[in-house]
Amino acid sequence: MDWGIKNRLSRIINPKTGHTVMLAVDHGYFLGPTSGLEKPDKTIEPLVPYADTLMLTRGVLRTSVKPDMDIPIVLRVSGGTSILSELSNEGITTSMEEAIRLNVSGIALSIFVGAEYERQTLLGLSNLVNEAEKYGIPVLAVTAVGKDMVRDSRYLGLASRIAAELGAHFVKTYYCDDFEQVVDNCPVPIVIAGGKKLPEPEALELAHNAISKGAVGVDMGRNIFQSEHPVAMIQAVRSIVHENATVKEALDLYNSVKAGKD
Ligand code: R5P
Repeated sequence: MDWGIKNRLSRIINPKTGHTVMLAVDHGYFLGPTSGLEKPDKTIEPLVPYADTLMLTRGVLRTSVKPDMDIPIVLRVSGGTSILSELSNEGITTSMEEAIRLNVSGIALSIFVGAEYERQTLLGLSNLVNEAEKYGIPVLAVTAVGKDMVRDSRYLGLASRIAAELGAHFVKTYYCDDFEQVVDNCPVPIVIAGGKKLPEPEALELAHNAISKGAVGVDMGRNIFQSEHPVAMIQAVRSIVHENATVKEALDLYNSVKAGKD
């Protein structure tokens, strides 16, 4: 792998622990003003000290992240659809020049395996990798799940493997039963999305299970910023991802930060 790609990846995945807490705040690109993200700057600022990376669009980056904030960026460069339309009909929205100008550490796009526009999104990934490799920028493929897809290890394993085969440098998918099979069959690092908001103990258990079964980290959004105590929640997630904390230890940390004891 190219030196530039390795260097940028090491800003996303901490080389000391081999793990990463990516904070996903890109939801507005198809969901509009998502609950908890109505004012992205207010949501993001207190969480940045505990995140390894922010995943977002250029619009939120420009408007809601100060340029002197010390946080690597994974820029979402796909979109063009909304929750009201056919989600798989995504294209590339943001040029490579823009990604370089914004000094990002990685770029991300969604692929929709098994959906109506599967081919378009998979060729989009391949083309993006071709371009990104010219400039040493790692590509994160997000295995988005179409409306009729089951989130099981067979389907997520298929989507993750295809993403890696087409050249993605790391993959974001969902946790599922037999998740270790998804990891085993994918030759590049995997991070998991958190999905819809769960009670905090369940979200921590999800993170713990994913890390135990081989994920290098989380790219979590709603289970952090929609928590009643987002700063406590991101610290609890971080303790699992980077410090090998048990679910109980992480929950204790959540409760003590929430109570103002930490
Ligand atoms: C979805 O395609 C977006 O990329 C989100 O960033 C992703 O779903 C992760 O966020 P959450 O943990 O809220 O699922």
